[in-house]
Amino acid sequence: MESMRAVGYTLETAVADIIDNSITAGATEVSLLFSPQPEPYVAIVDNGTGMSSGAAQNAMRLAGSNSRDHRNSHDLGRFGLGLKTASISQCRDLVLVTKQDGSLSGYRWDLDYLVETKSWSLLELTEDECRLLPGFDELDKHQNGTLVLWRKLDQLEAAVGDLIAGLDAHMIDVRKHLALVFHRFLAGEHGSKFSIAINYRNVSGADPLLQNHKATLPGPIERIDVEGESIELRPYTLPHLNKLSTADRQRAQVEGSMRDSQGFYIYREKRLVIWGTWFRIAPKHELGKLARVRVDVPNSLDHLWALDIKKAQAVPPPSIQRRLRQVANNIIAPSRKVHEYRGRRTGAQQHTRLWNVYDDRNSFRYEINREHPAVIALGSQPASDGQSVDSLLRLLERSFPVDDVYNRMGQDQTQLDSKDSDLDLMLLASSLWNSLQGTLAPEAFVQSIAGTEPFDSNPKSRQILEEAVTNHD
Ligand SMILES: Nc1ncnc2c1ncn2[C@@H]1O[C@H](COP(=O)(O)OP(=O)(O)OP(=O)(O)O)[C@@H](O)[C@H]1O
Ligand SMILES: [Mg+2]
Repeated sequence: MESMRAVGYTLETAVADIIDNSITAGATEVSLLFSPQPEPYVAIVDNGTGMSSGAAQNAMRLAGSNSRDHRNSHDLGRFGLGLKTASISQCRDLVLVTKQDGSLSGYRWDLDYLVETKSWSLLELTEDECRLLPGFDELDKHQNGTLVLWRKLDQLEAAVGDLIAGLDAHMIDVRKHLALVFHRFLAGEHGSKFSIAINYRNVSGADPLLQNHKATLPGPIERIDVEGESIELRPYTLPHLNKLSTADRQRAQVEGSMRDSQGFYIYREKRLVIWGTWFRIAPKHELGKLARVRVDVPNSLDHLWALDIKKAQAVPPPSIQRRLRQVANNIIAPSRKVHEYRGRRTGAQQHTRLWNVYDDRNSFRYEINREHPAVIALGSQPASDGQSVDSLLRLLERSFPVDDVYNRMGQDQTQLDSKDSDLDLMLLASSLWNSLQGTLAPEAFVQSIAGTEPFDSNPKSRQILEEAVTNHD
């Protein structure tokens, strides 16, 4: 039992494993309560079906069920271990109290007691003993339900240092983790309402695929049929970073940066188990950072995926890998499109950009568009020497800080929106008209300049251009 403490759970993943059991037991409310004092504890209470005394005793046994047994669909369990391994990874004292049809049972594993007695002594608690436990009042509010209580939090103490100072802060990570892995349950996707509260504050779900964002582009649903079961794939291209609010960004940056967060999002019975990886099927490119694929797998295919006890690791079987590779390649392409130079637009109106980008297989360069009216106007200024303007432009092009831009975008910085004020546009319009009026009639001038950068993004551009022409006359 001491050895099983080192399976590698964190507080977040351990709590999530306990909540898996609550969901499987049909709970609609889960309440996590914790306090660092007087005696530190973490309690997880649900209003699920609860257990009979016999079932509770069995639940406390290691591998109380066979991991090869068929599981009901919607059962988030597999190994018959989670309750014990997740709990003792965090604490030395685990208590299970459960209520079903009016009968109350309580059992306890105390590692220190096991060491002392050198025997497998599962302690049974009396009803009076149960009533004194932290979290019991919360359980008592429900007709049926279960309380899992952790005390002697030695591992947690080792992880956070001082519990009084550290537990609160650590619970912020727990909240984030639960918001992510159970987001589909919290959104009511499995049919009934479901809530999780931490010290009475509700957790709201955080969808890393931003499926409700209107600029997210979902792709077509595909199915892979394996052993009579079906795996469902759906690609999503996330909106360009500029379009995301801070909250959306936080939801989308599950792995720190957008680039690291790309990849497959594997849901086992709607519970997110693995995310932000292409499983060595494809590398993570900067250009693929908006690409994600939702993969829904049923628990009946667990044996194919080499699922680990914490359900945090799994490897897709070769037969599925092939299809995953196809989908990954298709999805990375649309993600590139959102990122490619946004100057190329199609549609009725032709927009004239100040920069052109030239692609040459694996290399590219930016050039200032010599056809842009502002460039033409500059070149035709009487005082300036056409030759030196062109050398300045070439200098600007060559010194364009591509590496710096790349680094910044890689760190998910967005470009400061540099909208020109109406006054700036007015000044630019006047100077353009000043130098172009010999070559263009007023109407043609307004017509052609209105579709060029930076005028094309200002709704009042026509008015400004017309004013510039009139004022000048
Ligand atoms: N909150 C709960 N409400 C009702 N029954 C529970 C609850 N928690 C655990 N059980 C019962 O105890 C059993 C053992 O739970 P445990 O988490 O150890 O294993 P599991 O969920 O079957 O598999 P896994 O190791 O994959 O989590 C469960 O199968 C379930 O029958
Ligand atoms: Mg379980």
